[in-house]
Amino acid sequence: MVDLHDFETKQIVVNPFFKSDHGGCFVTPNTEYIMEASQYAAPYSTDFVPLEEFNEKYRGGLTYWKFDMEKGRIDPAQTFTLEFPPYSQDLSDAGKGPSYGWGFTNSFCSERYVGGIERGRPPFEAGCSSKDTDFLHVTNWKKAAELVKAGKVKKVNGHYLIPIEQAIDEGLLFLVPEPKSPHGVDVTPDGKSIIVAGKLDSHAWVYSFDKIMKAIKNENFESTDPYGIPIISLEAALDKSVNVGLGPLHNQFDSEDGVVYTSIYVDSQITKWNYRTGKVLDTIPIHYNVGHLMAMEGDTKHPDGKYLVALNKLSIDRFNPVGPLHPQNHQLIDIRGDKMSLIYDMPLPLGEPHYAAAIRADKLAPAVRYKSGWNSRADQRSPYKARAGRERVERDGNKVDVYGTLIRSHITPEIIEVTEGDVVSIHLTNLERAEDEVHGFAMYGQNVQLSVEPGKTASTTFTVEEPGVYPYYCTEFCSALHLEMQGYLLVQPKGYKAKATLEHVGHKYTEADYNKQVKTNLETQEVIDMVVGYITSRNYKDFPTVVGLVEDATDQLGFADDSRKKAEAAAAKKDWQNAMLWANQWWQYQVKTADLGLRAKTHLDENGAKKIK
Ligand code: CUA
Repeated sequence: MVDLHDFETKQIVVNPFFKSDHGGCFVTPNTEYIMEASQYAAPYSTDFVPLEEFNEKYRGGLTYWKFDMEKGRIDPAQTFTLEFPPYSQDLSDAGKGPSYGWGFTNSFCSERYVGGIERGRPPFEAGCSSKDTDFLHVTNWKKAAELVKAGKVKKVNGHYLIPIEQAIDEGLLFLVPEPKSPHGVDVTPDGKSIIVAGKLDSHAWVYSFDKIMKAIKNENFESTDPYGIPIISLEAALDKSVNVGLGPLHNQFDSEDGVVYTSIYVDSQITKWNYRTGKVLDTIPIHYNVGHLMAMEGDTKHPDGKYLVALNKLSIDRFNPVGPLHPQNHQLIDIRGDKMSLIYDMPLPLGEPHYAAAIRADKLAPAVRYKSGWNSRADQRSPYKARAGRERVERDGNKVDVYGTLIRSHITPEIIEVTEGDVVSIHLTNLERAEDEVHGFAMYGQNVQLSVEPGKTASTTFTVEEPGVYPYYCTEFCSALHLEMQGYLLVQPKGYKAKATLEHVGHKYTEADYNKQVKTNLETQEVIDMVVGYITSRNYKDFPTVVGLVEDATDQLGFADDSRKKAEAAAAKKDWQNAMLWANQWWQYQVKTADLGLRAKTHLDENGAKKIK
């Protein structure tokens, strides 16, 4: 489950029954459920079951994962699975509008063939494509959910499971023949038709939901499958089939009524056609072997049209080779006119581009920063939050908790001392409020890597097995002194005693160095005052981005003042070493203040801020 407020993965669920599935996110119209079909039939248990018992003990299935809108999480306790025969179920789609409450899942290898080249049997690919048709599985999830709610569904291993017999008795599951080895199954925006593309066929098949419902109502079934599931005849369910090219895979819809785009794998092209008239309108060549397709909101009730992205599996001669693995390719196609036109190629380094979805940017409301001290994974305040000046290290036996902070450009604490064998937890809060002011945290030898966005508190725990010196540092180029954003974890051997209290001294500073630095600082302050004057004479409070920057700048200026006092105190004692170093820190804070101020000023200038009295 990926949260679109921060695009972070918040939850990973594991199917209690299936051992594989075909990746894709198919949600019911109000995100009540997410459909996940099993791909390769297998026993539901983790026990050994010989292949001779394939027909009896191996199973496919379809899980409807319940989504809790309130919590923003999948609720496994309210999730149910429909047991299916050991056909290889594949992609799915949920009905909408008139077909709301129903789901559609296709399959391949309804032959239930099991290969075994080493046993002298023809391979899977021969036996799994010998029949002319496979089965479209039609499921009534709304009725199934009611049965679950009424307590009529039993749990297996703590999960609701509806056996095939119960699904048949309750009218939850029907089969319809579909073209050989199909791939995509897509419900049209009006919810009245279902388009299935058979990748070993050259046709896209358009089914009528109305006809399917009539066949179910009149119990007009041609037969049952070996498990007793009613099969609706093709003639009773099919509206039309259209020759769209060799190897059709996926369908995406246009904003224009009736217009659909189908990716054609073998012919390497996109076919634009009309599922109401059955007419092919246009084709465009693709480079090469297009798989998935993505039109702007092309899976919804109201597709946005305009653009289409072909997600291609091969790129062959399209780009300079970078070794045996060539990039995958995304191709952007303009679909605003009658003819499609290719406008852009975008190679990707890795992985087959898969079931992508486009959402209008203005429908998203991503967060700019977290509430201070936020655990983004749990979506709640972290108990390990630390505030500026309140950083600390707490020890309980061999358990060490470090409550630290990150702000340009230092990590507090900068030195952490522990003993070998300690279990160390480091909790870091990013104190920044400005947009995109992220700090990272990495450490040598401990497999630690954190991304800490503004407001976030991130934690990591590890056991220090070996005594040694472990440098840590920021991994985001956050300011001119990003490289200086560093520290040391010192893991002392058991029984180690510090030898001397003498601090390490590097470069030495004089009174002249101090005076020179103070002069620079006073000049820098004049620049800051000018920028502050500029911002405060504008309506900057109307710009949330600038408000964040000003808050950060105010923090930094406060720290600068604190360092200035320390510098002056050291100078009064003629401790020129510390006087110079604190004067320099005073200046570092000024530089960050000035940087934030200039970013704020630029934002105001670019966004038409007005002068106020
Ligand atoms: Cu913080 Cu680089």
